[in-house]
Amino acid sequence: MCGIVGYIGKRQASPILLDGLRRLEYRGYDSAGMALQNGASLQVLRRAGRIDNLRQLVAETAPQSMAGISHTRWATHGAPTDENAHPHRDQSGNLAIVHNGVIENYQTLRDTLLADGHIFGSETDTEVLAHLIGVYYDAGTQEDPVARLVAAVQAALPRVKGTYGIAAIHTDAPDVIVGARLGSPLVVGLGQDEHFLASDVSAIVAHTKDVVYLNDYDVVTIKKDGFDVQALAGGSAQVRVSRVDFTEDEAEMGDFPHYMLKEIYEQPQSLRNALRGRLSRDEATVVLGGLQMSPMELRQIDRIILSGCGTAYHAGMVGEYLLETVARIPTEVEIASEFRYRNVPTDKNTLQFVISQSGETIDTLAALREAKRKGMKVLGIVNNVASTIARETDGGIYIHAGPEIGVAATKSFTSQVAVLTLLSFLFGRIHHLSSTDGLELIDELEAIPDKIASILEQADHIKTIANKYADADGMLFMGRQINYPVAMEGALKMKEISYIYASGHPSAELKHGIIALVKPELPSIFLAPHDAVFEKNISNIEEVKARKGPVVAVATEGHPHIEKVADDVIYIPRSPSILSPLLTVIPLQLLAYYVAVARGCDVDKPRNLAKSVTVE
Ligand code: AGP
Repeated sequence: MCGIVGYIGKRQASPILLDGLRRLEYRGYDSAGMALQNGASLQVLRRAGRIDNLRQLVAETAPQSMAGISHTRWATHGAPTDENAHPHRDQSGNLAIVHNGVIENYQTLRDTLLADGHIFGSETDTEVLAHLIGVYYDAGTQEDPVARLVAAVQAALPRVKGTYGIAAIHTDAPDVIVGARLGSPLVVGLGQDEHFLASDVSAIVAHTKDVVYLNDYDVVTIKKDGFDVQALAGGSAQVRVSRVDFTEDEAEMGDFPHYMLKEIYEQPQSLRNALRGRLSRDEATVVLGGLQMSPMELRQIDRIILSGCGTAYHAGMVGEYLLETVARIPTEVEIASEFRYRNVPTDKNTLQFVISQSGETIDTLAALREAKRKGMKVLGIVNNVASTIARETDGGIYIHAGPEIGVAATKSFTSQVAVLTLLSFLFGRIHHLSSTDGLELIDELEAIPDKIASILEQADHIKTIANKYADADGMLFMGRQINYPVAMEGALKMKEISYIYASGHPSAELKHGIIALVKPELPSIFLAPHDAVFEKNISNIEEVKARKGPVVAVATEGHPHIEKVADDVIYIPRSPSILSPLLTVIPLQLLAYYVAVARGCDVDKPRNLAKSVTVE
């Protein structure tokens, strides 16, 4: 998604803006630009391609300015060119804006403005918005240009259908930046004689850890020495200062070649963080205070709905098996973009969870809002504290995975699954699990981080396998029961960073059509831990081998029989079947990573993708 960074204060703006944009690169983009207050005019610098292209232009131009806005663009309307790059200006050229989101009625607005003689230099919806705000600004009567700019934003935005996170500056008001949001996140950074505006806190965490997350329909005015938040419709708005819960270093890549690899290796620690303070040995149960529900209230729940997108959806699929197996609660998992349009019958004892790493995915947010319109209690399983989804749910469970920068979700998946495991333990202990059962589950869960660490030690072995199959035509990922969702997740990882077509299936589905695809150029990756369906997986592997399909198996150590049937084997430590997804996914993350590296792909910023999908 697009990235926004604004600065106004005691220092030169352009270096701060460029550094902020660099930290937002992971969101995916195809052009970048900035607009700087330059005395009586605005200095607008824009370049298609990487931020380094913009950096070079800034170096050549050597702007001197203490206030500006900047943007990385993920093209929605119009090709990634210099002309379509943000910022965009109004007809007068005195107002510039940057925008994250989609204006669905931009064509209608554009036609109206064209009829009034406006001339556009780009194909973007954002330029239409800039012209619209400019019309209201030029028609404004307020003496104070700051009040006039705020009023123009408040007048223009209600005419917009769609989503926006914007920052705007005007030459008449060189000491302010005005921001507004609906559906696309914006955060204000509070500094000493300087203030920041950004679409993501990682862009400004190097400068301040005191932030204000804006809500939908907020309009903010930031100055060097302060800020003010109003409602779009006028009047005051709620302001709450939060403390960022991670450091600049945590959001950096460190010694790793890619954020994705760093985050794969963080998983023993991120899993410990997900469990920390939530396993009560004294009571042999789980403590999840964020649910804000007593055991008596939880006991009334007789149905659970989980929803999310992409990897979060796959975690929900694992959650379905966990909640039904461990807690015996009927559970269904829905892709959020589908759930929002379904008309799911529910009653007061149905509990809905939305799962989201970023907490900003527009489809998941829409599913949340639809469930709340139906009067449901909706809880979040979220990583990004104070994100929109975290703020709009009735409580929930933070996964505490730390910032996940790589577009491909890795540690957020295992932490989401860990939290769903905790949830199933809690419900299980409320219903039928004994304290002895609870202690056994706690012991097994606490052993998982070290088991993940032992799998990571096999990285070189997995890299060898990845190099062997890096030129494959496609890949099949197969798993049974609770590892079927992991097969789906492994396929998604492979698709999104190596661009190899891959699909995940229940192993038994092979005979129902999929085996027609099997050929020597198409490896099948089987998740075959030593569980109740191990022999059935062996049979499926033999069916593939009989048709000359290569097979890579993820299997439990101590059962070497599988080496007789699979071409390559990656062993994982023993664990109860219900905890196996936390282990079987690790080889698949590394396999996808090394295949992508072998293919020369941009692992952290894969083509066409963004870390947080805030547009529909
Ligand atoms: C997963 O690797 C992808 N990055 C994508 O499918 C992602 O899981 C999905 O967009 C949901 O994002 P969220 O968890 O931030 O809501």
